Amino acid sequence: MRVACSPAPKEQLDKESRRDPFFISDDLSMDVNHFYLPAHYTDSLQEILVPHGMIVDRVEKLAADITSDYNGHTIHLICVLKGGSTFFYDLCAALRRMHDYSNQNYIPYTFDFIRVKSYEGTESTGKVEISGMDVKTLEGKHVVFVEDIIDTGLTMTSLMAHMNEFVKPKSVRVASLVEKRTSRSCGFKGDYVGFSIPDKFIVGYCLDFNEVFRDLNHIGVISKEGFEKFKDHVW
Ligand code: IMP
Ligand code: MG
Repeated sequence: MRVACSPAPKEQLDKESRRDPFFISDDLSMDVNHFYLPAHYTDSLQEILVPHGMIVDRVEKLAADITSDYNGHTIHLICVLKGGSTFFYDLCAALRRMHDYSNQNYIPYTFDFIRVKSYEGTESTGKVEISGMDVKTLEGKHVVFVEDIIDTGLTMTSLMAHMNEFVKPKSVRVASLVEKRTSRSCGFKGDYVGFSIPDKFIVGYCLDFNEVFRDLNHIGVISKEGFEKFKDHVW
């Protein structure tokens, strides 16, 4: 599916829910030697951008923001595969913890999965393939998409356009662990965003390069060696 890259319709996203993401500055670079890396990645990263502990702490806060914003309403989480899945599972665990101890008598969330593909290697193809779920099931629900990263914004813009063709949910918001500061952005903004990062290609915490690095806990930047090692990796 090919769509014009433009921000989502205003009525779709109530931007009052957006709080500033944690800002990772352009010159922040954490030495890989200060972190434990599994042997298969020791020479594949040039820096750590977001250590795993910090991801866990931010996810906890995003869950708290969501819990407070939707107090009393069941949300329908849509995990955007594959990259969003680790964030999705950690977010669900945090939402569950908060809800279970709040003694509230409603279901905190239901969920589904959607598959969206736009990247090959480190480049966006500009073409978005959507599959895996019937968006008509979103009718009348409080929908929250759970995505790994908003880069150009093309993926989320396409998903919104695809959904708007078929249904009118009660509300739609987007949780994205990361957003990239890039001149290629079409202006699409998430509502619950963990980190604002410089324009670098990142991997880890389920973000991949040719399907590699999804198993890495931290978020980091690939080294030249890592790029060479995995550039022809075929899954
Ligand atoms: P967008 O459509 O340009 O916003 O990109 C969104 C999708 O591209 C994300 O959901 C990721 O799957 C992938 N992507 C974008 N930037 C990166 C990156 O730095 N590392 C890994 N995947 C990325
Ligand atoms: Mg993604």
